[in-house]
Amino acid sequence: MKGVVLAGGLGTRLFPLTKITNKHLLPVYNKPMIHYPIQCLVNAGITDILIVTGGNSAGDFLQLLGNGADFGLKRLNYAYQQGEGGIADALKLAEAFAEGSPIAVVLGDNIIEGNIKRAVDDFKSQGGGAKIMLKEVHDPERFGVALVKDGKVIRIVEKPKMPETNLAVIGIYLYDATVFEICRRLKPSSRGELEITDVNNDYLQQGKLTYDVLQGWWTDAGTFESLYRSATLIRDNGANRMDV
Ligand code: G1P
Repeated sequence: MKGVVLAGGLGTRLFPLTKITNKHLLPVYNKPMIHYPIQCLVNAGITDILIVTGGNSAGDFLQLLGNGADFGLKRLNYAYQQGEGGIADALKLAEAFAEGSPIAVVLGDNIIEGNIKRAVDDFKSQGGGAKIMLKEVHDPERFGVALVKDGKVIRIVEKPKMPETNLAVIGIYLYDATVFEICRRLKPSSRGELEITDVNNDYLQQGKLTYDVLQGWWTDAGTFESLYRSATLIRDNGANRMDV
């Protein structure tokens, strides 16, 4: 299994912090944000990793991460996203890297207390399809929200005004290689982006989507509140722990 960290975008919700740098290079407590999703993959035994980024500060990722020595890696791979087309559009850039392997995709601003080892092991024995991870939150309207019944995902709605549940779809996704065909079929949403929720709903329609509920805390770090919250969570509990 290979890993992909999506670290592009304009980070407009963090303006002016992101006016001259990429969101994923901002500090979260004692590390640059991008360190956390990379460590998350490495802790799951995934060491062949692609960083997809874009914009003006893309070169800074090379300077910061180099060949991944901070994570015990020999090599890191990089792809450059031209323009802003949404998460599923950025993911298309991983197709040549994946070479038909299944992939674990982590959004670069998603940070977890624990690890995804169990989900990755379960996905490997699932025989294709996709697996998403869910977490109960108090502000589901900010995320993709899943309705689950009898152990099955019934539907996922992106940022619903009236969420049916408080189960957020976190930004860590496990996909087989058909994900790239799905990305190519997508139509832009009302906000003009190719939505990762549409990818997940495609797998759902095919009956090939499973889920796991994440242990330990999860947060994104793409708003002032969540960036602040992630720093205090890391200070108080640590992130990417193997014992959670
Ligand atoms: C994205 C996804 C959303 C997901 C969230 C997790 O939202 O579209 O489904 O729940 O990441 O962080 P964004 O933060 O890009 O608006």
